[in-house]
Amino acid sequence: MSELLSQDESACARCELSLTRTQVVIGRGSVDAEVMFIGEAPGRNEDLQGRGFTGAAGQRFDRILEILGLERDGIWLCNAVRCRPSIAGKRNRPPKPLEIAACRHWLKSDLDRVRPRLIVTLGRVAFESVTGMEWRAERRSTLYEAQEFKIPVFALYHPAYLIYRRDLVGTYHQDLEALRAAMRSLRISVGNMSHGDAAFN
Ligand code: URA
Repeated sequence: MSELLSQDESACARCELSLTRTQVVIGRGSVDAEVMFIGEAPGRNEDLQGRGFTGAAGQRFDRILEILGLERDGIWLCNAVRCRPSIAGKRNRPPKPLEIAACRHWLKSDLDRVRPRLIVTLGRVAFESVTGMEWRAERRSTLYEAQEFKIPVFALYHPAYLIYRRDLVGTYHQDLEALRAAMRSLRISVGNMSHGDAAFN
C-alpha cells in the first residue's frame, strides 16, 4: 500500500523553512514497510516535485535499492527535515539544528505509524536525529538500537557524498554488503542483485 500519512504535515509551520518552501516533502512508500530510509532534507528538485530523492541523489538512492533488491513501493522513504533549506531560494544548504529539532515531530510520527523493523540513515543529519548520537564515519555499517524507538539503525554515508568522494565508492559497496547481511540477520528479505549490474557510476 502506497500512502501519504498526514494532511497536517503539508501545512506545517513549526519552523521558518515553511516561509520559503514550495511544498512539504512528506514521507512516502508502504506503511507496511520493514525498512525505513531517512535522508537529510529536500533539495531544489524535491521541493519543486514534492517527492524525496529525485535528481542526482535520487539516481544514487535507486542504485542502493537495486543492490538491496528493494523497490520504493516496498519501503518507507522520508527526510529528517521535510522542507528545503536554501540560501535565498538559490543554493541548497544543510539544515540548522533548530530546523532538525522542529521536524523531529514528523520523523517520530512516521516511525510510530510505520514501525519499521530496520531504520537506514543516509548521512549525518538523519543519524543524529534518530539516535541522538554524534555522527562519526566509524559509526557507519553497524547495527545500533535507536534507544527512544527500540528499532535497529544502520548508518550509511549520504549517497550525494559519493558525487564528491569518488574514492569512497568501493567502501559504499562494502557498506551495502554489510547492510544486506544485517537485513538477513533480522530476517528481512534481500534480493539477489549483483554489484556489477547495479554499480554506482
Ligand atoms: N537529499 C536528501 O537527503 N533528501 C532528498 O530528498 C534529496 C536529497
